[in-house]
Amino acid sequence: MTAIVSIQVPVPQAGPRGYPVRLGSGVVAELPSHLRRAAPRARRVGILSDETVFAHHGDALLAIVRDAGLEPVVHVIPPGEASKTAAVLGGCLDAWVAGGLARSDAAVAFGGGVVGDLGGLAAHLYMRGIPIVQCPTSLLAQVDASTGGKVAIDHGAAKNLIGAFEFPAAVLVDPRWLATLPAHELAGGAAEMVKHALLFSPEHLDALLRHAPLVADTEPEVLAGLVASSVALKAACVAADPFERAPAGRVLLNLGHTVGHAIEAASDYALGHGQAVALGLVAAARLSRAQGLAAPALIGRVTAVLTALGLPTDLEAWLVGPRLERVRAALGHDKKRSGDALTYIALRDVGAPQVLSLGVDAILTAIAAGDAGS
Ligand SMILES: NC(=O)c1ccc[n+]([C@@H]2O[C@H](COP(=O)([O-])OP(=O)(O)OC[C@H]3O[C@@H](n4cnc5c(N)ncnc54)[C@H](O)[C@@H]3O)[C@@H](O)[C@H]2O)c1
Repeated sequence: MTAIVSIQVPVPQAGPRGYPVRLGSGVVAELPSHLRRAAPRARRVGILSDETVFAHHGDALLAIVRDAGLEPVVHVIPPGEASKTAAVLGGCLDAWVAGGLARSDAAVAFGGGVVGDLGGLAAHLYMRGIPIVQCPTSLLAQVDASTGGKVAIDHGAAKNLIGAFEFPAAVLVDPRWLATLPAHELAGGAAEMVKHALLFSPEHLDALLRHAPLVADTEPEVLAGLVASSVALKAACVAADPFERAPAGRVLLNLGHTVGHAIEAASDYALGHGQAVALGLVAAARLSRAQGLAAPALIGRVTAVLTALGLPTDLEAWLVGPRLERVRAALGHDKKRSGDALTYIALRDVGAPQVLSLGVDAILTAIAAGDAGS
């Protein structure tokens, strides 16, 4: 086992000291101790995973759980966003009931962001709540989805419409799981790292550019360092505003997601979440320029790092014809609406976010205008 990096997220709702995010090769070996701490009388562990992740890494996880004298109650779902439904959530809860999971037991989400979101919501609901340890296996889930305690399923009308806050007992980030992650999924996760860098850290942005492409050749140690930096940035934001109540706190993490989610929905989820967020980040840079907040050079900086990381930046395709109308309709369903306006996160510069309140048409007009002359 290499050195473990530990980041404590001091959210009081998750216990007096909050919860730890533990990062490092082999850190999954700590799973039993985190389960015992969260659920001292546990006999069983409800494990949610997806078919792909479980085929690659399930046996190793089960061995760790069994060796600790805990009985796994496993539920494996089809991979992908299509599983983030009420029906699949119900299937997980049914499996936990059938497996005899008790209120004193605990759960593990072992997979990407879909499994993390679903598993977290299942743990939140099961017998009014059992503790969960998040074991994120995709880069996106490692750097973003697993850390903040937001859990949800999708609704036909919009993504993540039905959800809750369920702060994990612990998050275990083992970079060895990334060895089996397809390259486009790795790139998708990198989009969330770019988001954290644009919001909070020019240094992190430089590091991402320096080490791109993250795909084939990245040294595991380098990738682990970038993951740890990203998690630390997100954790600090979550800790300052766990329930997204501050006017410029956790809401900032929606940078790139207003338009990103709309494009993801308009593509019928054919476009990966991270790839859609990349387009949303380009949109944010363009809008920031059109609003007179940011210098034109911001657009070039954003597109350069995204391109280097293998992410899409061709926003034009989503700003014309029927696709534009689908994006417009999806924006109309955005959860961050307040009256006719949407909360939109813009940038004055890298590391200098700005919260705006804008109507859907104003957003789309500004994004279209923001590219002029750049
Ligand atoms: N809760 C939050 O704060 C938050 C934040 C960001 C994203 N999300 C959610 O996360 C989801 C996207 O996450 P994602 O990109 O991880 O999606 P995902 O869970 O669908 O995983 C992507 C694909 O990678 C595969 N995979 C995962 N780990 C693997 C591994 N180690 N080896 C091989 N294959 C592996 C999965 O089987 C899947 O096919 C979206 O639903 C999004 O809404 C939530």
